[in-house]
Amino acid sequence: MKLPEQIEAKRIMLKGLNKPSFQLAQNLYDVADQSREQLRVWLPWPDKTHSAEDEYTHYLVEWCQAHWEAEVGFAYAITKKDSEQILGCVDICHISWTDKSGEIGYWLANTAVGHGYMQEAVHALESEAFKAGINRIIIKNDTRNLRSAHVSERCGYALEGVMRQDAWDEYHGRLRDTNIWAKLRSDWEKEHE
Ligand SMILES: CC(C)(COP(=O)(O)OP(=O)(O)OC[C@H]1O[C@@H](n2cnc3c(N)ncnc32)[C@H](O)[C@@H]1OP(=O)(O)O)[C@@H](O)C(=O)NCCC(=O)NCCS
Repeated sequence: MKLPEQIEAKRIMLKGLNKPSFQLAQNLYDVADQSREQLRVWLPWPDKTHSAEDEYTHYLVEWCQAHWEAEVGFAYAITKKDSEQILGCVDICHISWTDKSGEIGYWLANTAVGHGYMQEAVHALESEAFKAGINRIIIKNDTRNLRSAHVSERCGYALEGVMRQDAWDEYHGRLRDTNIWAKLRSDWEKEHE
């Protein structure tokens, strides 16, 4: 089962990162590089991504394309509807079609923060995932990452608990505590009644 290559929302488009090209890698790299100092606080990959070549090989080919083909992860670039400018990315990964579950992750460029684009992207992506047969979607974030937690909460995900000291946080040099937020298909159906 695959998710659509393009997903349309009110103000934005989600464009599938299933067909790697070097130009796309360069565009993604430039956007992430401009927000590197903010992104590296909460995400591990900026410190491992030092060029468009890294972006192309390790992200677009080895992660996005491979996961898309294996039908276990679907990553999208977010753009405004009337523009090719990349605002950030959203993905659903760790998909189990047996358990009918997956995990949403996201980031935005500094210049795109504070407009509600991520809430719109999460709603658009979860809708396609639930329609495709997924039953449970989780979002995980560091308990100190308040902006990310705010997105999860505002999108209607329920905080199921905190996994204490479950992952090494290289940036802060500590084991981090991780929020687990979840939405079930039945929750989503109620929202759309
Ligand atoms: C997490 C992250 C994506 C959140 O971005 P964001 O812009 O705060 O989230 P949204 O796009 O949902 O926007 C919500 C904000 O837009 C504002 N907003 C403006 N217009 C809006 C609209 N039409 N609809 C909804 N919100 C709107 C809201 O008031 C809200 O701001 P506030 O919480 O300060 O009041 C961003 O901070 C980020 O990329 N952080 C670094 C990477 C990261 O932490 N990723 C997650 C790892 S778990």
